Parts: sequence; C-alpha cells; structure tokens
Amino acid sequence: MKPNVQIAGAEVALSEFFDGHPVATFAINTRHIIIHWNRACEQLLGWSRADMIGTQNHWLPFYAKQRPLLSDLIVAGEQDIAGHYPGQHQRSPLIPDAWEAEDFFPNIGASGHWLHFTAAPLHDREGKVVGAIETLRDVTERRVAENALRKAHDNLEHVVEKRTAQLADANERLADDIRQLTELNDQLSMAQQQLVQAEKMASIGQLAAGVAHEINNPIGYIFSNVGTLQGYLEQLFEMLAAYQQAEASIGAPGVAQRLGAMRERIDLDFLREDIPALMRESREGIVRVRHIVQDLKDFSRLDAGQDWSMADLHQAIDSTLNIVSNEVKYRADLVKQYGDLPEIECLPLQINQVVLNLVINAAHAIGPERGEITLRTGVADQHTVWLEVEDSGSGIAPEALSRIFDPFFTTKAVGQGTGLGLSLTYGIVQKHGGRIEVDTEVGRGTRFRVLLPIRHTEPAEAGVKEHS
Ligand SMILES: Nc1ncnc2c1ncn2[C@@H]1O[C@H](COP(=O)(O)OP(=O)(O)O)[C@@H](O)[C@H]1O
Ligand SMILES: [Mg+2]
Repeated sequence: MKPNVQIAGAEVALSEFFDGHPVATFAINTRHIIIHWNRACEQLLGWSRADMIGTQNHWLPFYAKQRPLLSDLIVAGEQDIAGHYPGQHQRSPLIPDAWEAEDFFPNIGASGHWLHFTAAPLHDREGKVVGAIETLRDVTERRVAENALRKAHDNLEHVVEKRTAQLADANERLADDIRQLTELNDQLSMAQQQLVQAEKMASIGQLAAGVAHEINNPIGYIFSNVGTLQGYLEQLFEMLAAYQQAEASIGAPGVAQRLGAMRERIDLDFLREDIPALMRESREGIVRVRHIVQDLKDFSRLDAGQDWSMADLHQAIDSTLNIVSNEVKYRADLVKQYGDLPEIECLPLQINQVVLNLVINAAHAIGPERGEITLRTGVADQHTVWLEVEDSGSGIAPEALSRIFDPFFTTKAVGQGTGLGLSLTYGIVQKHGGRIEVDTEVGRGTRFRVLLPIRHTEPAEAGVKEHS
C-alpha cells in the first residue's frame, strides 16, 4: 500500500507530493541508498531520477571524489559535522537534529552555483532513524549580490581611505605653503627694513660727508692756531714776569704805584693760572671736534684706502681688546669663548672698528657694579661666521631699540656719546654682506651678534648688464 496525504478532500500519493514540491529534495535510507530524487532536483543538478534512485551516487553532482553529504552524516549519526563542512554549517533553528550548510560548487551549471543545504533525519513510528531527507536551494544570486555589496563596500572604504589620505596630503602641502609664505614674508619685511635703514644711512652719509668736509678746514686752522697761541702766551707770560721783576727798579714813584694798582685790578696771578687752563680745555674741545669729524668721514667713506684681505677674526678681536682695555678693565671681567674659525675675507681695520664700537658700548652699559663682557665666535654655516659681544649691563629699552643704528642717536650725556658707533658698525657689516642681530632685556644685558660671510662677493651693481 502506497502512503498517501489528504489535500482538500483529494488523496495525493506521497511520492507525487514530494515530486511536485518546487524545492530540490532527495532522501536516502540507512544504507545511504537514494530512495527519492524529485523533479526540482533533476532540474537543478542535471541528474535524472532514473540515474540516481537505487544508487549511492548522490555525491556525484557535487564533488569530483566520493564523500558524505549532510544526509549521510545524519544517517551515520556522525557528530563531527564541522569536520566535513568547515566554517559553513549550523544547527537548524527549526528542527532538532537537522543541519544546514552552504557551499559553492564550481561543477554545477555554467559557472558554478552557491547551494544552501538542509538535512533532517527520517524516523519510523518507534522513533528509529530510517533515513534522511535533504533539500537544496540555489542561493547564487543572493551570494553574488552579497559579494557585489561587499566589494562595493570595500571599494567605497578604499576610496574614502584614498580620499582621506589625499586630503591629508593636500592639507600638509597647504600648511607647508603657508609656512613658506610666512617665511618669505618675514624675509621680505626684514629686507625692507634693511633697505629703509640703508637708504637712511646713504642720505645721512652724504650729509655727513658734506658737513665733515666743511668743518674739517676751519677746525684744522683753529687747532693749529690754538697750538701757536699757546706758545705765544707762554712767551708773553715770560715777558710779563720779567717786567714784574723790573718794577722794583722803576724810579718814578707814580709809575710803580699805577702798575701795582693795575696788577691788583686785573688779578694777574689768577690770569696766569687760568689762561693756560682755558687753552688746555679749548684744545681738548677741538680734539673732540676733530674726532667727531673723523668719525663722520669714516662713516661716509667706509672703504677709503683699504683692501679686502684674508684675516683671522680672533686676532682682530684681541688687538682691539688691547686698545680698549682701559675702558673695560675697571668695569667688567672679559670672558672669551672662541670657536674654531676659518680666516675670513674682509676689510680688517673696519672689522676692528666694529669690535671696538661693540665692546665700548658694552662697557658703557655696565653700571656702577662690576659686570661681565663675553666675546664669542662660531661658525653659522659653511658660508658664514659670527661674533657676539654680550654684556651684563643695562639692556636697551624697547622704544630705543628701533633707533640705535640711526646716526647721532644716543642716550648718553652730551659730550659722552656721538651716536655714531652703531651706525658705523651697521654700515661696515652691510658693506661686508653680513647682518647684525640684537638680543636685549632691560636690566639684564644685551647681546650683539654680527654675522659675516667667509668670502667677500661684490654686490651686483644696478644698471650694469651682465653680458657686455
Ligand atoms: N651694549 C649696549 N647696552 C645698552 N645700550 C646700548 C648698547 N649698545 C648701544 N646702546 C644704545 O645705543 C645707543 C647708540 O649707540 P652708538 O651708536 O654706539 O652711540 P653712542 O655709544 O655714542 O651713544 C647708545 O647711546 C645706547 O643707548
Ligand atoms: Mg657707542
């Protein structure tokens, strides 16, 4: 008797029900022999019922070599499902003892298929396992869609990553550009400052040259006349002394008396003392004026009568220190911290002048308490050396700092400073193609740093063509 099922009053053979089911399904018995192989199975796998039923060939559509399927494992009571379907099996959430697995089968169809298997044991009335039923669904489309999605997602992530990296890159380049621009800007404003300063120096230089020239001659003859005058006066005083001695022997009493009264009136003794003092002071004053005029001339004609030559900077500093030792030694201790320097191409006398001005200023900046003046040298880069004069003196007030290189700017008492030292220094350093940096703090001290190129290069003259 064939087993039947009731559907809406009609009786349908169980095999017909099984066969008409649109999901590919087959069943095996406990000897792993195929007992059912439905039409959907034939369609999906391309193996006919006639070929399969009664055989153990249900592995054949799937694998190249014989191996157990899910249904075989269930019939055999095999616990190690994972050993046969690594990574892609799970217990059925619907039926106990049923299993599900999913895998790709390259041999099925034109380009292979993803199949989802469900297998469950078949029991008899006593509950004994008499076989197993296995269904398979084609999940290729879902898998392909999933894969495409995953790929799209990966792609997207990749694109985002790439874009992020590009953005970061662009950002960095931008920051770099900004840095460079800022640097250029700084350089530009420094160059501009130097230009302004140079311009100022040039015009004041011309003025100074004119004034110096005009003053030089009269000062010259005043100086020499004062010298001569001093000689004459000495002679006159000698003569007067002789007359005074002769007074006693004057016979006419009225004459001697008048002479005595006159001597009282003009206080001859005082004149005799005071006139030489006045002459001395005048001479000193004139010497000072001459000195200023000389400075002015130096200032306007920095390179007069000098040649560029190789010189040892340390020697220049030391010989200058000898000259100013009197100015320095009562006020400060001298500290030397010399680096290892190559000889530099320079106008040596003018470099002496630079050191002289800086050291004297340093000494002047030191107050009543004893201080310290430090001279340092070093190499800045392969083209440049530097020398520093640092003092523990008064420091420079911010409002003065911007003017210290201006000619005639001085904070010193009249007669003590000409205000030309630093402007001279500035001109000399500029002539050498170097620069000066100042670091100062009121109450703590000042450090002047002079940077000088090791080799002298003539600045290109404006308006002169290179090829001519
Ligand atoms: N080392 C220093 N410490 C403090 N102030 C200084 C220093 N060097 C220069 N100065 C300031 O700069 C001014 C100008 O200096 P300078 O041109 O040498 O002229 P002078 O020394 O004749 O005043 C000085 O009057 C002083 O105010
Ligand atoms: Mg000075």
